[in-house]
Amino acid sequence: MRNVIIIAAVILAVSMACDAAARGRRRFPVSPMIPADRVGDSSTPGTGNCTQLFFHQRIDHFNFEPAQQLTHYEQRYYVCRQEKWNPNQPIFFYTGNECNVDLFVNMSGLMWENAEQFGALLIFAEHRYFGKSLPFPGEDMPPVPKINFLQTDQALADYATLINWFKVTHNSTSSPVIGFGGSYGGMLCSWLRIKYPSALDGCIAGSAPIVNFEEMIPAFNFDSFAQTETLDASAAGGATDFCKANIRQAWNDMESLGQTQSGLALISEQFKLCTPVQSLDDVYNLMGYAENSFGNMAMSSYPYPSTYLLLGGKGILPAYPMRVACDFLNTNLTTPAERLAGLRQAIGVYYNNTGDVMCINITSTVNYATEVVDYLWGYLSCTTMFMPAGQNGVTDMFYNAPWNTTQQIESCNQQFPGVLTQPDWVQINYGGYGVASWGSNIVFSNGALDPWHGGGILSATAPAVETVLIPDVGHHIDLMFSNPKDTGAIRAARAIEVENIAKWIANKK
Ligand SMILES: *[C@@H]1O[C@H](CO)[C@@H](O)[C@H](O)[C@H]1NC(C)=O
Ligand SMILES: *[C@@H]1O[C@H](CO)[C@@H](O)[C@H](O)[C@H]1NC(C)=O
Ligand SMILES: *[C@@H]1O[C@H](CO)[C@@H](O)[C@H](O)[C@H]1NC(C)=O
Ligand SMILES: *[C@@H]1O[C@H](CO)[C@@H](O)[C@H](O)[C@H]1NC(C)=O
Ligand SMILES: *[C@@H]1O[C@H](CO)[C@@H](O)[C@H](O)[C@H]1NC(C)=O
Ligand SMILES: *[C@@H]1O[C@H](CO)[C@@H](O)[C@H](O)[C@H]1NC(C)=O
Ligand SMILES: *[C@@H]1O[C@H](CO)[C@@H](O)[C@H](O)[C@H]1NC(C)=O
Repeated sequence: MRNVIIIAAVILAVSMACDAAARGRRRFPVSPMIPADRVGDSSTPGTGNCTQLFFHQRIDHFNFEPAQQLTHYEQRYYVCRQEKWNPNQPIFFYTGNECNVDLFVNMSGLMWENAEQFGALLIFAEHRYFGKSLPFPGEDMPPVPKINFLQTDQALADYATLINWFKVTHNSTSSPVIGFGGSYGGMLCSWLRIKYPSALDGCIAGSAPIVNFEEMIPAFNFDSFAQTETLDASAAGGATDFCKANIRQAWNDMESLGQTQSGLALISEQFKLCTPVQSLDDVYNLMGYAENSFGNMAMSSYPYPSTYLLLGGKGILPAYPMRVACDFLNTNLTTPAERLAGLRQAIGVYYNNTGDVMCINITSTVNYATEVVDYLWGYLSCTTMFMPAGQNGVTDMFYNAPWNTTQQIESCNQQFPGVLTQPDWVQINYGGYGVASWGSNIVFSNGALDPWHGGGILSATAPAVETVLIPDVGHHIDLMFSNPKDTGAIRAARAIEVENIAKWIANKK
């Protein structure tokens, strides 16, 4: 957001929050997967002023005991371009996800670049418990039971309440309100549209994996994330088939080498490990660490270099990082030593993006992943945002590690003793795929190289639900600022979105 002018006095310290994606799917230890949201690149600027405000919000929207009704927190939101807006003109509303909301102010180029033509006010609402929107002031990692109000249902009720209050208090009850969200924010945006029909007149849901759950009807393919990562590392995804074959073979190499002292030494040497592996369990941890980089590189399949998946880390990922990683694995590597050295260089595209990492340290991260976001997302994913991700090593380039519900629930109970995991809540509460047949005024966009796209809505029969699958790109690029390297398909996707926004606004009048 280079040229988005933020009044210095209102935005104080901007602390980075969000965690990196795809921390799960490792054999040991098991931790649930997290949809990622990162700062976008802002090579084409938006303009406008933002003011940081706080809304006195109920902590529990679904409890009517007298004591509960008195319990509120201060929910942060930004209002931007107010000086250019008049009552009853459109409002673009970002349904904040699992990060400090500053990230979304900065990355949501689609909102900034189209505000002018629609005369829209921009509102960016922060998700409860994240950033500065703390239900229990001073407690950014509240324990059970204080964390219990961290639920999608509560977050949606927050947004609906804020929108209604804002319109009423600004004499703008006929303002069309268009929701925007990427990743988990896109899930919330589409759910807000269907659960609170008067809150949003339409929603642009970018890379929103709303069917990436158990108990979907029909069933969701738990291995789809791994399968798209594999596509990205193959000829069909812009690399070569040697790449995925070498990667798949490298895990076997590691598992067998991990059983002897000389094998462990070879792994430590080829990976340039800061701390040598001592056991097969150490090797499994290294495998998980290596694998995580592929999820982030796959999501970051953009036609230009991007910092987005590094979340404010000091380096930058190249355009199509998976293809760059595959450059080290694109020939028929015939020995384990060659494959391990190639794998180390491949994951270095992500972990050594700054070029100053002298040894691979599996306890370090390249972004500002925080314990806080891990903890908060961990709670969400251990209750109702229980998002399965498995792999089998046959239809994907990894190793056999099928999604195991029992094991995941056990691990949730270690972190949050006694917590109730409800894997079917998304199907029950939001209707899973159903929105594609009975929803309205939603555009679901996905990138075909984004590993999350398999958990998204890719086709719809409802006349007012549109789906856009953007070939050759990663995670919700359409929400970001325009870039000269954008492909025709990216521009076309944005044009479809803008066309829908125009239609929703016109229909409101
Ligand atoms: C920001 O607000 C100030 C004061 O209202 C105004 O002068 C300025 O033009 C605005 N900046 C932008 C980029 O809209
Ligand atoms: C957002 O952009 C502003 C202005 O460029 C910058 O100061 C701030 O660090 C950014 N915040 C985040 C969270 O990216
Ligand atoms: C809303 O309308 C009332 C009555 O016309 C007026 O007094 C008030 O200032 C208006 N508020 C805003 C925020 O425009
Ligand atoms: C790779 O090399 C090995 C050993 O030379 C050979 O057996 C195998 O057929 C080659 N694979 C491909 C796909 O060329
Ligand atoms: C990181 O990149 C630098 C510069 O390319 C290289 O010299 C170094 O060996 C890399 N580190 C690892 C662990 O591969
Ligand atoms: C590895 O990373 C961790 C976490 O950042 C750090 O505490 C540790 O010192 C690093 N170890 C080495 C050998 O660099
Ligand atoms: C799933 O995990 C449970 C608990 O850790 C274990 O007992 C079970 O064998 C696992 N199932 C499979 C199919 O691996």
